[in-house]
Amino acid sequence: MTATQKKSLTVEMDMNDNNVSFYRKIKIDKFREIAALLGFHTGIDLDVLMPYIRHSKVLIELGVGFGRVVKALLDRDFGGKIIGIERSPELFQYLKTQFPSTVQLLEQDIRRFEVGQNVDAILYMWSGILELSLHEQHEAVRHFSQKLNPKGILVLEIPRQVKYMGVSVGNQNLKVEMEWGVLDAFMPTHEQMLELVKIGGFESLKVIDYQTATDLSRAMYLYQKP
Ligand SMILES: C[S@@+](CC[C@H](N)C(=O)[O-])C[C@H]1O[C@@H](n2cnc3c(N)ncnc32)[C@H](O)[C@@H]1O
Repeated sequence: MTATQKKSLTVEMDMNDNNVSFYRKIKIDKFREIAALLGFHTGIDLDVLMPYIRHSKVLIELGVGFGRVVKALLDRDFGGKIIGIERSPELFQYLKTQFPSTVQLLEQDIRRFEVGQNVDAILYMWSGILELSLHEQHEAVRHFSQKLNPKGILVLEIPRQVKYMGVSVGNQNLKVEMEWGVLDAFMPTHEQMLELVKIGGFESLKVIDYQTATDLSRAMYLYQKP
């Protein structure tokens, strides 16, 4: 392996770890502002998703952020148990003040999470999967799949276009530069999203394209276990 290849592999492997500081430093108000800019503030992604997850008895949200998705689920009378996983200690402390104790919050890394039971749905919203390198995406999807019950659903939400924030820096890599830090991302193609069916041992896939409240084109990939 050449020195350049080694360097690019190291960058790829470290991508998710390099993003830790971005989320440790982000202010909640700013986080909300960005959600509104992208058109997530109305919970439109949950409006689209609810019919597919409404009857889940236990659901995990990966990377809870400031709690937008958990709040949207509660606002839409989701009746199952919600488990939220977030690794940023600052966001985690904030989240603990936001929800009733029926919402179980765990300060863990989504790549290795353990919740002590299998679940009916795992949601990885707002480009979560983009914050993993391609290699990590495959490893993570295998891990998520193992945590699902039969007929359980994994939801991966991704953008169809780069708009409002972030720039493409070539080779499917994106960069978001803010005053408090830089976030790196890797945008999988539709074909790479299709490959996850086999990688995760899923039985079927449903792809839903939708527009956010600020007219951003995005998609949800719903992978279902046999
Ligand atoms: C773009 S935000 C999404 C927030 C929320 N899911 C939403 O849709 O509003 C991504 C979140 O995932 C968290 N995150 C990123 N990598 C993680 C990891 N490896 N383990 C746990 N949380 C992670 C970040 O700290 C951040 O809060």
